[in-house]
Amino acid sequence: MNHISEPPVERVTIPVLQRWKEEGRRIVMTTAYDAITARIADPVVDIILVGDSVGNVCLGFDNTLPVSVTMINDHLEAVVRTRRNALLVADMPFLSFHLNPAETIRNAGGFLQRGAEAVKLEGGAKRIEMVRALVDSEIPVMGHLGLTPQSVNVMGGFKVQGRKADAALHLLDDAHCLQEAGCFALVLEGIPAELAARATESLTIPTIGIGAGVGCSGQVLVFHDVVGLTQSRPKFARAYAEGFRTLQDALSRWVQDVRNGAFPTSQESFRLPDDLFDAITTWAPPNPT
Ligand code: KIV
Repeated sequence: MNHISEPPVERVTIPVLQRWKEEGRRIVMTTAYDAITARIADPVVDIILVGDSVGNVCLGFDNTLPVSVTMINDHLEAVVRTRRNALLVADMPFLSFHLNPAETIRNAGGFLQRGAEAVKLEGGAKRIEMVRALVDSEIPVMGHLGLTPQSVNVMGGFKVQGRKADAALHLLDDAHCLQEAGCFALVLEGIPAELAARATESLTIPTIGIGAGVGCSGQVLVFHDVVGLTQSRPKFARAYAEGFRTLQDALSRWVQDVRNGAFPTSQESFRLPDDLFDAITTWAPPNPT
């Protein structure tokens, strides 16, 4: 008997995303940092990002700056083991694409060798040499403009960008510069909705917004924000579950059951065969020497 009821899901690739932009089909991306979150996300989203947000979301850092290539490699390898259909993008952490093209290619190439299908990096015209080097090495690049968290010290905090005329026009120039250099998509983060919409309509590649309004080609949110596992969330995030409270409540009920002897029951225990049971009850501890 054939138990397969679902039609085969289309593997999300870069040409598929381009087609969806042309068809006006919205693209959905979320983060995953381990095998279980990738297993949950993979059947329902289009793109999985092994984001450097792992630093603040999972590793307890205040921002993404301490995240290293080794850390992304470890989380990427876990995600690769369970991801099936979504396009898999690895984030280039701080300092992994700033020094020179050779090192940038080596770091990004390592992500692709581990199973990522593209990389994402923050910055516009300043990073164009690195973007070109990656694209020339057959490494697909997703750009990231606006409130770029790796620039937290330059921005003086996590602040909405592109609110002044020169900054808004600069962002539009950067977006086209990245498209020219061969980026296949752009994340637009923390910018006014009108600016993101203008960028989206003027570009041929898709834009994925986060705190950038509804006029982008798609949206991205951090997985832990969507399921309510984070306790403080940015204004632009929406939690669709009370993950933190639900999980802590489940854990508390188990703790209570352990403490009052209600866990485990015979259902959660293993039994000895009767003859062995007799053997252990007649056994006496050896005399101490
Ligand atoms: O690291 C990350 O999670 C990101 C997304 C929020 C775009 O860069």
